[in-house]
Amino acid sequence: MSDIRCIAISTGGGDAPGLNAVIRAAVKSAILKYKWKVIGIPDGFDGLIWPEKAFELTLKHVSGILPRGGTILGTTNRGNPFQYKTTENGKEVIRDISPDILANAAKLGIDAVITIGGDGSQTIALELFQKGMKIVGVPKTIDNDLSATEVTFGFDTALTTATDAVDKIHTTAESHHRVMVIEVMGRDAGWIALEAGIAGGAHIILIPEIAFTVQKVCDHVATREKYGKHFTIVVVAEGVHLPPEMKHMTRAIPVGNMVGDAIMLLSKREVRVSVLGYIQRGGSPSPYDRILGTRFGVAAVDLIAQGVFGKMVRLRNECVDAVDIAEAIGKMKSVDPQGELVRTARAIGISFGD
Ligand code: F6P
Repeated sequence: MSDIRCIAISTGGGDAPGLNAVIRAAVKSAILKYKWKVIGIPDGFDGLIWPEKAFELTLKHVSGILPRGGTILGTTNRGNPFQYKTTENGKEVIRDISPDILANAAKLGIDAVITIGGDGSQTIALELFQKGMKIVGVPKTIDNDLSATEVTFGFDTALTTATDAVDKIHTTAESHHRVMVIEVMGRDAGWIALEAGIAGGAHIILIPEIAFTVQKVCDHVATREKYGKHFTIVVVAEGVHLPPEMKHMTRAIPVGNMVGDAIMLLSKREVRVSVLGYIQRGGSPSPYDRILGTRFGVAAVDLIAQGVFGKMVRLRNECVDAVDIAEAIGKMKSVDPQGELVRTARAIGISFGD
């Protein structure tokens, strides 16, 4: 018989469509299936640094939030309790305030915590677990760069948003006979660029995992010209590594603009650039992300009921199971340059600028 009576939920790091699906599923299953009380921890772990911010999450709080993007709990990608920045006597000091976190959780009557977050949040969760907190992790990032899970919720929605943008840019590129560069998110991985490039019918995809040269990019533009295709769509991942010929350019401007400038200078073609930015993090989650988020929420609560802690739920072979958080963090899932998706893209004539 589980001695759990009250659990808490926090969302940390960059937001992602589907967070509310996880929160809703965890609250509903905790209350309906296990009759537990649920506490919402606002803004990552801030709600345990200032326990007065925490609040009881009821079925009413999660009613109607499934189609909503963002997180009803709020989030932050600052505020690591083990390296907490504070100012004392006008000086910035860094303190380990994790004992306060544990004490405040006990004061609030919290028996176990579900941490929904990316690599950073899961690393904090692991350290809190090693300090005795009963904690379960749920992976989250639009970048899909967490290695322990086949996919993270939020990616499908970001991919759909980016693909929709590529579709829209097609028509203006063709009408104006231009080279159009579209910069997408993805931090240091190229998943959003690769898949939105393939799905959106891009002609060139630039990702961190494959080194490109501006010359090769312009060669592909010229080849299309030769075949009477007077427009080219270039999808660029924000994390691309600049080739030697661009090293003199400072990364003060979005990399999409830098790539656009370099193509314009070398090809003498008319180039326009769109940096998609935070629309990829926003908006209503796709059905896929709602279902994956819901499955993860229920699985996290079931792990707590089984008395299993220090684990992160994940998708493997289409099934939701769990992995040690220690195994899940610190290993970024990058695009395999020899992998099936890249080979598929090459087979249909997409260039990676290499
Ligand atoms: O990890 C998600 C993400 O949106 C990345 O794609 C992007 O590089 C980063 O977060 C932006 O972080 P911030 O919200 O701190 O600007």
